[in-house]
Amino acid sequence: MMLLSWSVVALAVGGLASAAPARRANYVVHEKRAAEPSSAWTVSRRLESDKILPMRFGLTQRNIDRVEEILLSISHPDSPTYGKHLSPEDVIEMFKPGSETIDVVKTWLVSSGIAPERIRISGNKGWIELNATVAEAEDLLNTEYHVYEHESGPEQISCHSYSLPEHVQPHIELVKPTVHFNHRITPGKRVPEKLKKRTGKLGAPSPYNGPKTNGETPSVTPTLDYCDEYIMPACLRALYNISYTPTQTGKNTYGVVEFTPQSYLATDLDMFFSNFSPSLVGSRPTLVSIDGGYPQSQNQSFDYNGESDLDFEYAMSLVYPQKVTLLQTGDMVEGAGFDNWLDAVDASYCTYDGGDVPSQDGIYPDTSPGGYDGPESCGVIAPPYVVSTSYGQDEVSATPAYAIRQCNEYAKLGMMGTTVLYASGDYGVAGFGGYCINATTGEESLNGTRFNPDFPSTCPYVTSVGATQVSPGYTVYEPESAAETVIYSGGGFSNIFAMPSYQATAVKHYLEAYPPPYTATQYNNSGNVRAFPDIAANGVNYIIAIDGEFELVYGTSASSPVIGSMITMANDARLAAGKGSVGFLNPVIYTPQFASAFHDITNGTNQGCGTTGFTTEVGWDPVTGLGTPDLTILMRMLLDLS
Ligand SMILES: *[C@@H]1O[C@H](CO)[C@@H](O)[C@H](O)[C@H]1NC(C)=O
Ligand SMILES: *[C@@H]1O[C@H](CO)[C@@H](O)[C@H](O)[C@H]1NC(C)=O
Ligand SMILES: *[C@@H]1O[C@H](CO)[C@@H](O)[C@H](O)[C@H]1NC(C)=O
Ligand SMILES: *[C@@H]1O[C@H](CO)[C@@H](O)[C@H](O)[C@H]1NC(C)=O
Ligand SMILES: *[C@@H]1O[C@H](CO)[C@@H](O)[C@H](O)[C@H]1NC(C)=O
Ligand SMILES: *[C@@H]1O[C@H](CO)[C@@H](O)[C@H](O)[C@H]1NC(C)=O
Ligand SMILES: *[C@@H]1O[C@H](CO)[C@@H](O)[C@H](O)[C@H]1NC(C)=O
Repeated sequence: MMLLSWSVVALAVGGLASAAPARRANYVVHEKRAAEPSSAWTVSRRLESDKILPMRFGLTQRNIDRVEEILLSISHPDSPTYGKHLSPEDVIEMFKPGSETIDVVKTWLVSSGIAPERIRISGNKGWIELNATVAEAEDLLNTEYHVYEHESGPEQISCHSYSLPEHVQPHIELVKPTVHFNHRITPGKRVPEKLKKRTGKLGAPSPYNGPKTNGETPSVTPTLDYCDEYIMPACLRALYNISYTPTQTGKNTYGVVEFTPQSYLATDLDMFFSNFSPSLVGSRPTLVSIDGGYPQSQNQSFDYNGESDLDFEYAMSLVYPQKVTLLQTGDMVEGAGFDNWLDAVDASYCTYDGGDVPSQDGIYPDTSPGGYDGPESCGVIAPPYVVSTSYGQDEVSATPAYAIRQCNEYAKLGMMGTTVLYASGDYGVAGFGGYCINATTGEESLNGTRFNPDFPSTCPYVTSVGATQVSPGYTVYEPESAAETVIYSGGGFSNIFAMPSYQATAVKHYLEAYPPPYTATQYNNSGNVRAFPDIAANGVNYIIAIDGEFELVYGTSASSPVIGSMITMANDARLAAGKGSVGFLNPVIYTPQFASAFHDITNGTNQGCGTTGFTTEVGWDPVTGLGTPDLTILMRMLLDLS
């Protein structure tokens, strides 16, 4: 699993009218950062008052308080409207802000001195857009903008908190750019702890077949004899009872998201396929270019190719002959964030002029040399039936308003029939790089004692995928354990999201039957918050072809596309029977009837933050969720649903 990191903001410069008079009566704080992002960032100066900010006011959506209810009515197996997915037009209509909301916000802006012709409403009515000077923005939001500098050089603008008039506040979900730091991957500026640390070369004598001397191509003999040391597609088929050949390849869709400059190498795919999936030699994923994304090959190393090579070598092998779609997001200059791929599949999220802002997302068109200068990708493809994403960020680095607005978009994808999968993280109860939270200051720190959950896994409207392993000395015919080799399965409890009803029984059972020996300062133990992961699959010792060699990789990065492959096969069976895709999966798999479709994992923990973490137990647990699927059973049960 890869980290989406923080980075610099590009500032537009120019001059507009000077500041309007202050109007700060009856203001209330709307968003506030709990703490500064990390000690690596320092405030370098006040932002110049004549700089221009591309402001976006995210309007309160109608029915947004009914998101869970609407999603459950479509995805809970007991609902009479189960499987009646909405069209994109239905979704826009259901959630577009009411005219009162637009009026209140516009009237406030105009009465604050903003000329009406400067105010634009987005095509879906979700956003009000305004280019404002810093002085104007500071006045409107009763705040101060500062420039933050990272010790490695990049700068970013931000304010610590901002306010809105009391009567306007209920009509605005969030304002950008304000307190949010950037979450996009920017080439060359990534946080050091990543996949690389979690890999080792495949060096042992067997099943490595013939050392690569004299320029010979290395090869590996497929076998089930060493699945505790080397995972290959055959091990996964045996572990999860995968023996299905898709037939609905023209109708079915499976997408995997990658953020540029992460990219697969064609030569690596072919090296892997010739060993493990000969009929795929020469096959590539179907490229959907989002904001200029393409599988770049000029920069090659584990950091550039590890994630994509892993994802496509396994996903394509498992679902063959079903094609896999690559949602390659972002160009080589700007990179991209979660919002960019959401924009591309969900036209209700973006606007024709761009709902994104430089402080959060790649902004397109990008006129930098080598940048993608075409229009921003907005609703360019229908959402695939399954989308797997092996990237994440520590939940604490997102503000609640930002996380909640994005999470609601995943719910909308579920309403439209898409299963959204996210890897749960590789550091157990800790965040990326082993960082935890200082319980006093709320800052991320290696010495922190509060657990540090992963977003978007903490969003209750995605399916979060944890990791298991075949323990040393065991075979694929024996129960797996939680991953405890190199990585630990991300899992725990959200600090932002309330518990969704579908998991209440399972999670309360865990907390009551096996009370974890931790206090409320270590995690929210109220039993009222979203708990994750939901499900798990093997994430240890995967053989991949990478930069011309076979190596081993570890991570929930591996687990998520494997689960995606299995759900894709279940969708194939449903399409063949004239039914729809399964869409949002959680309300179905948490029902007691589905317990028989999973191997319950009851050995292992997910250590972190100086603790052993949570323990796996009978039933759901915050290490491996409901367990790993038996696809034959899971598929039959999903096929039986209407
Ligand atoms: C803001 O400025 C940019 C760059 O000049 C322009 O493309 C955009 O249309 C402007 N937006 C609004 C709402 O005026
Ligand atoms: C690719 O490598 C070149 C040369 O090392 C470097 O200048 C460039 O920044 C790299 N590009 C990306 C996207 O990392
Ligand atoms: C795989 O599924 C078949 C059919 O349901 C079942 O008979 C068999 O026992 C399963 N094998 C394993 C290893 O779970
Ligand atoms: C948390 O931060 C405070 C203030 O910086 C510091 O005094 C304290 O030692 C920190 N706690 C830990 C466990 O690092
Ligand atoms: C963390 O603790 C170590 C010693 O255990 C100390 O050297 C270090 O300064 C602490 N770091 C922070 C950020 O508190
Ligand atoms: C735990 O979550 C509950 C429910 O959201 C909330 O009311 C409570 O304040 C949280 N506790 C802490 C310590 O954050
Ligand atoms: C439980 O997990 C540990 C650590 O991975 C492993 O050594 C042990 O063999 C496992 N036991 C069982 C019964 O799987």
